[in-house]
Amino acid sequence: MPRHLLSMADLDATAIRTILDTATQMHDVQKREVKKIPTLRGRTIINLFFEDSTRTRSSFEIAGKWMSADTINITGKGSSASKGESLRDTVRTIDAMGVDALVIRHGASGACHQVAGWVDAHVINAGDGTHEHPTQALLDAYTMERRLGSLEGKHVAIVGDLTHSRVVRSNLISLRRLGADVTLVAPPTLMPSGIQTWAERDGFALSHDLDGVLQGGGSGRPIDALMMLRVQKERMSGGYFPTPREYTVGYGLTRDRLARLTDQNPEIVICHPGPMNRGLEISADAADAAQSLVLDQVSAGVAVRMSVLYHLLAGEESATNVGATNEGSAA
Ligand code: CP
Repeated sequence: MPRHLLSMADLDATAIRTILDTATQMHDVQKREVKKIPTLRGRTIINLFFEDSTRTRSSFEIAGKWMSADTINITGKGSSASKGESLRDTVRTIDAMGVDALVIRHGASGACHQVAGWVDAHVINAGDGTHEHPTQALLDAYTMERRLGSLEGKHVAIVGDLTHSRVVRSNLISLRRLGADVTLVAPPTLMPSGIQTWAERDGFALSHDLDGVLQGGGSGRPIDALMMLRVQKERMSGGYFPTPREYTVGYGLTRDRLARLTDQNPEIVICHPGPMNRGLEISADAADAAQSLVLDQVSAGVAVRMSVLYHLLAGEESATNVGATNEGSAA
């Protein structure tokens, strides 16, 4: 395992498999009446969030607490960063207290890489700008595998605001490493620059035609999973599409598209990293459909983040103690 988790590129296929397998064991802990294992007793984890979050921050906090770590949340607005303290001074100050891990969300792409060079603690990227969100990609893979089985040879379409999505960048790496075929779908204005070269290098397909892909276009095969991405209005300074209505007509998972899709393949799975813009990129019917895994993704987020914390912090000597409840068997 790497010392830090800054990008999905830090994890080869074997490391991804190891984290997902351990997450299965952590999911069992999540289902217990007493959700407490001693694995990270004596460790201190700081969740340092300079951008808002519901899922990632709370699931990292729950994950740490369920593994008996001391977890502390610090937000940008509630810290001395609001008085002008630099990121470097902020993280070095926290690191000097002797913490074991920093889980960081920041608006600047590459911020977590910089922090990793400044501190002794393990650093976990909880989303940096438009760059990456590796634990989201891990929980997405975990969720899809639980419903679809191995992702080897499965076809996943990822649709929406690709330009501003750190989720798609991490998912492209993990899905390709797990052997899935991927088709990215977006209007031309929301395709990142250089994506064509990237697609040729990493072997994924691109399309501007959502209906064509849903009917088996893209890589030429029907899709097994559809991941809808949030339109990130807070990162848009200009007009990326004429009106919300036109975006929905072209690229939203509307009630009609959902009906056609589930007629073709009732086993299809629908994912969304959240938070959702209901009525824009995904209709309420699709978000709440039997095929929707949105809440399964949230649930998996805790198990996967327990697994990540475990592998980064607990060390290999505790590998047999994942599910232990006996205090005496703590790592
Ligand atoms: N998917 C995700 O990162 O959600 P939050 O912003 O709520 O953490």
